[in-house]
Amino acid sequence: MIPLSLVAVVLLPFTLAAPQPDAGVIHVPLVRRSQPNRVANLPKVLKALQNKYGYHTTVTSTNLKRANSSVAIPLTDELNDNTYSGVVSIGTPAQSFNIVLDTGSSDFWVATTPCTTCASDISLFDPSKSSTYSQANSNLTLAYGLGEVSGTISNDTVAFGGFTVASQKLLAVTSGTISLLISNGLSGLMGLGFAPLSALLTTPFWETLYLNGQLSEPLFSFYLERYINQPLMDSAPGGILTLGGTNSSLYQGSIEYTNLTFAPSFWILNVSSITVQGTAISVPTSSNLAVIDTANTLIGAPTSMISGIWAQVPGSMALDGNYTGLYAFPCNTSITVSMSFGGTDWDISPVDMNVGTVTSDMCAGAIFDAGVVGGGYDDMWLVGDTFLKNVYSVFRADPPAVGFAQLASGLSSSSGTFDPNPVQPGSLPAPTTSSGSNGTTSGGSNGTASENIADSLTLLVTVSACFFLLL
Ligand SMILES: *[C@@H]1O[C@H](CO)[C@@H](O)[C@H](O)[C@H]1NC(C)=O
Ligand SMILES: *[C@@H]1O[C@H](CO)[C@@H](O)[C@H](O)[C@H]1NC(C)=O
Ligand SMILES: *[C@@H]1O[C@H](CO)[C@@H](O)[C@H](O)[C@H]1NC(C)=O
Ligand SMILES: *[C@@H]1O[C@H](CO)[C@@H](O)[C@H](O)[C@H]1NC(C)=O
Ligand SMILES: *[C@@H]1O[C@H](CO)[C@@H](O)[C@H](O)[C@H]1NC(C)=O
Ligand SMILES: *[C@@H]1O[C@H](CO)[C@@H](O)[C@H](O)[C@H]1NC(C)=O
Ligand SMILES: *[C@@H]1O[C@H](CO)[C@@H](O)[C@H](O)[C@H]1NC(C)=O
Ligand SMILES: *[C@@H]1O[C@H](CO)[C@@H](O)[C@H](O)[C@H]1NC(C)=O
Ligand SMILES: *[C@@H]1O[C@H](CO)[C@@H](O)[C@H](O)[C@H]1NC(C)=O
Ligand SMILES: *[C@@H]1O[C@H](CO)[C@@H](O)[C@H](O)[C@H]1NC(C)=O
Repeated sequence: MIPLSLVAVVLLPFTLAAPQPDAGVIHVPLVRRSQPNRVANLPKVLKALQNKYGYHTTVTSTNLKRANSSVAIPLTDELNDNTYSGVVSIGTPAQSFNIVLDTGSSDFWVATTPCTTCASDISLFDPSKSSTYSQANSNLTLAYGLGEVSGTISNDTVAFGGFTVASQKLLAVTSGTISLLISNGLSGLMGLGFAPLSALLTTPFWETLYLNGQLSEPLFSFYLERYINQPLMDSAPGGILTLGGTNSSLYQGSIEYTNLTFAPSFWILNVSSITVQGTAISVPTSSNLAVIDTANTLIGAPTSMISGIWAQVPGSMALDGNYTGLYAFPCNTSITVSMSFGGTDWDISPVDMNVGTVTSDMCAGAIFDAGVVGGGYDDMWLVGDTFLKNVYSVFRADPPAVGFAQLASGLSSSSGTFDPNPVQPGSLPAPTTSSGSNGTTSGGSNGTASENIADSLTLLVTVSACFFLLL
């Protein structure tokens, strides 16, 4: 059981930097929340992704489910995991909330005062106290891997980082079955994808600013700060989102842009290569599409490539049961991975490749089989924070592209080895593993290494400081 003290929420100390409106460029401080049990949350990570990407079957389709249907968008499991949020204000006078920022979806929703199923530890938007609030006679349900949120399609003034949109369509959530999502101080989610992904059939906040010419540059940029293998914190400085520009003090060298593969919806790039432990693995064009997603904790790799990737790591093995799709590897191995989208090979720190200890000497890896997501995503790359923490990332609307640059020296340099978590017997439902000769799952059987590991997993769950989850 996770100690309540770790579950308890400490509201964010937004003291690190006040937003600084400056010629159409806003630097929004990000705050990262951490929860202790990274490994125990892995099944939820996968479960969440199943619905995150599950609501339409092809990424190029514009035939998305419409406003009164049930659709799937990202999941936040705040109880045990971690994500990046910023402060967003709604209404007149403004009410402020901690909102998750998600390049992998395009709707904005917030929990409201009528919501009795929302956690008591979060701020709720009170529509009756906003003179600018209006609502349609239309409800919408957004389905997630672990539940759903339902609410009324509404309009109100939204302000973020000094920018204001006078009439932003949003979902005023009145009920939710995802207690893990609307909790831990987080009151909602803001999508940073493009309008065609919107279940509310609306233009996302950031895109409205862009279309209105309010951004000095047609882009926004993320520095996502790493805080891994450090002492536990409920919240910590999480980096900076720059809305409408880039911040040259956060990166060095030039920004390498890659055009989006398709007309804008998700932020999708072609992956051109991946190198694991020094070995380049070719990426066929049938498996080269990558969704760049700030709200995905890990990296999903195409089903056709996942075993080839982990085959480069001696002693690695597929996990099964609730952990199907994930791999474990000897903790004393330093995993070096780099990815390229047509130019530079961007290195991922070995620190980010190690999600946490699953047995005394096996650790879970950060690259999983995207096939577990289902919905036609088995040939795709789902590139989340495991990668994005290692670069400065720029999401550009015109020409549509994603750019990466090397972080300024000293940023995201955390690479500590501090293990703040005591062994937590019984805290983790036992996953089983197997170590078939080809590294695939074959199911547990008595006396095998896999069974021993399964037993060990139950007893020897130790976890690291934080886990960057939002799906
Ligand atoms: C959704 O809206 C359409 C058109 O407004 C209507 O035909 C349909 O019955 C609605 N579906 C549901 C489930 O409410
Ligand atoms: C939101 O505001 C726009 C523009 O003011 C208006 O056209 C629309 O009907 C409003 N929608 C709702 C749900 O109030
Ligand atoms: C929307 O949901 C609310 C709360 O459940 C309910 O009172 C209202 O009648 C619903 N509106 C429509 C149009 O279904
Ligand atoms: C750029 O980022 C640095 C480091 O966080 C910050 O101190 C600075 O204020 C930012 N630049 C601007 C123009 O806000
Ligand atoms: C990206 O990959 C797709 C196949 O997935 C291919 O059709 C397309 O030409 C590629 N684009 C570029 C710019 O390489
Ligand atoms: C990792 O540990 C195993 C078993 O303790 C040992 O056999 C192996 O040589 C170690 N590998 C490295 C790279 O230290
Ligand atoms: C990227 O797209 C822009 C226009 O959208 C085009 O001018 C440019 O040639 C493209 N770059 C590549 C490498 O295809
Ligand atoms: C797998 O997950 C489900 C639902 O989260 C849970 O009920 C079940 O006990 C788990 N199974 C194992 C073996 O941990
Ligand atoms: C691994 O072995 C299993 C059973 O032995 C087999 O079903 C599977 O296709 C093999 N996978 C690979 C990638 O060789
Ligand atoms: C596995 O162990 C159980 C009890 O420990 C025993 O009943 C069963 O026969 C064993 N199976 C095999 C294949 O050894």
